[in-house]
Amino acid sequence: MRAEVRADFERALTELDGDDAFLVRLERHFADLRGPLVELYGADPRFDEQWPALLAAVARTAAARDPELRELDHEREITPDWLHREHAVGYVAYVDRFAGTLQGVRERLPYLRELGVTYLHLMPLLRARPAPNDGGYAVADYGAVEPALGTIDDLRALASDLRAEGMALCVDVVVNHTAREHPWAQAALAGDGRRLAYYRTFEDRSVPDAYEATLPQVFPDHAPGNFTWEPALGRWVWTTFNPYQWDLDYTNPEVFVAMAEVMLSLSAVGVDVLRLDAVPFLWKRRGTDCQNQPEVHLLVQAFRALMRIAAPAVAFKAEAIVSPRQLVTYLGVGRHEGKECDLAYHNVLMVLLWSALASRRVALMTHALRAMPPVPRGAGWLTYVRCHDDIGWAITEEDAGAAGESGHLHRRFLADFYAGDFPGSFARGARFQPEPDGEARTSGTAAALAGLEAAADAGDEEQVDLAIRRLVLLHALAFSHGGLPLLYMGDEIGLRNDVAWSQDPLRSDDNRWMHRPWMDWAAAGRRYDPGSVEGRLWGAIHRLVEERKASPAMHAQGRSEPLWTGNDHVFGLLREHAGHRLLVLANVTEHEQRVGVHLVHEHGVVPRPGGAGRLEADDLVLVPYGCAWLTS
Ligand code: GLC
Repeated sequence: MRAEVRADFERALTELDGDDAFLVRLERHFADLRGPLVELYGADPRFDEQWPALLAAVARTAAARDPELRELDHEREITPDWLHREHAVGYVAYVDRFAGTLQGVRERLPYLRELGVTYLHLMPLLRARPAPNDGGYAVADYGAVEPALGTIDDLRALASDLRAEGMALCVDVVVNHTAREHPWAQAALAGDGRRLAYYRTFEDRSVPDAYEATLPQVFPDHAPGNFTWEPALGRWVWTTFNPYQWDLDYTNPEVFVAMAEVMLSLSAVGVDVLRLDAVPFLWKRRGTDCQNQPEVHLLVQAFRALMRIAAPAVAFKAEAIVSPRQLVTYLGVGRHEGKECDLAYHNVLMVLLWSALASRRVALMTHALRAMPPVPRGAGWLTYVRCHDDIGWAITEEDAGAAGESGHLHRRFLADFYAGDFPGSFARGARFQPEPDGEARTSGTAAALAGLEAAADAGDEEQVDLAIRRLVLLHALAFSHGGLPLLYMGDEIGLRNDVAWSQDPLRSDDNRWMHRPWMDWAAAGRRYDPGSVEGRLWGAIHRLVEERKASPAMHAQGRSEPLWTGNDHVFGLLREHAGHRLLVLANVTEHEQRVGVHLVHEHGVVPRPGGAGRLEADDLVLVPYGCAWLTS
């Protein structure tokens, strides 16, 4: 062990002397940390050099943990489902677009409290390269907050305010790449060989071409290819996303340790949840799509274990927009149960919600959700209607086929429908990264896609009402599917597309900016007016939050079983947790729909649909876009 590192480690251990909790955690999770790292780096002499530094960083973080955070460590160790409870509701926002600065966010906490939020994901807020920076996903300094948003002290103060409100703070850790402007990349550009080895660079096209043969492209329109020629280096740099986002090389153990230190310092600031951005991409293998490689899981397990030892209050969330079978592995399956992430985005659910809304049919959604692997024990989904990214129409041929459809045609239909190009479409979105075969991903706010924008512009009250119903339906499903539901900023008041996005030359090549509008506080001010659009939406979403809280079957770890209702326009879902039951019945059309009331009785719940419908002889009649939550 290098002398200074040893001194550091020993100092930390002295400070931890008597901290039995730390020693127990170290003993309990040590093998989970060391094992994957030995598997990854055992044969690399650089690992022996790095290992002591890693241990020292873990011990230092644990020793420096402030008393409030230690208490939280203890609390969450004994209530490991703290993120999965029925009262949990998340909110996602850009700091500047929501409240200007971190200080501004602190001032807006009453708004979030009122809405019932328990979890706040603030979009990338660490210092990024100047725009364009992929909405902050090109980090130039992991140790500083973007100056226009505030300082690390502001972040610490916000985390503490949130804690006092019972809200957890989630922050992005951009693990796959840094900005070209990050000091590591800058040192590499200046000729520092050690830093050059943090990245994947190549002297000619031979290796890049060999990889390209099987690599997909994330942004084929505005950032084609996966490699960028860097004249100052005289080398090709691996850049999966934009040319200014340099992929890190995790075959280098020093990179792992550097990123571990980033995570540890965020935990010290009081961050509760780390969102592992683009995590499937961390390991590359020739002849593959370079996603979800087994080594990615070893990396995640090691990160998770070190955080369990240093700061067990901190949870992990995977941003892995991959196939369901691959996705669940980020939640820890088999012998890795409980050893990876606590949460992962249920991208497929989002896609299926919009698919059902456009087609007014639920066969595909029912089949595809039934085919989803169950969520591993101790983990949960993040369920959501919209997020800051485009919607990629991830519907497989297999799932479409089972519902009697062609995958290609259905994906094409969705791209057309949500761009507003299909006869009768209510949507006002746009195509993102269109492909020659007519398929495309989709941009647009929830309100624009659900028809609120078009209806309001046309002054068509009937259509406005239907659009509000659609938005509430989508949220009712995201809130009851099972998982931690996320509300995307402004959806609670129906914010429309940002029309100004294309006028900003630094953003105009990326239409995802259309659905990242600025919060409209004047509109939010109308949330108490029951006659306004905002009041109707806010009121309905607020009710969903309240009703969710009151229903233990909503627990994210509960069972979630899609049912065939016998009516292709009504989606059915049975939830069960700790002896509590919930039957969700959702009408995805603008017409009344019926299901036999025997279905309700069979599942042991009470046919009391409230405003979502009524009983008529042997039928439960659901109002247009009505969603009933029937409990036992
Ligand atoms: C994630 C983010 C996306 C970003 C990408 C690269 O997928 O959600 O917005 O472009 O990572 O960092």
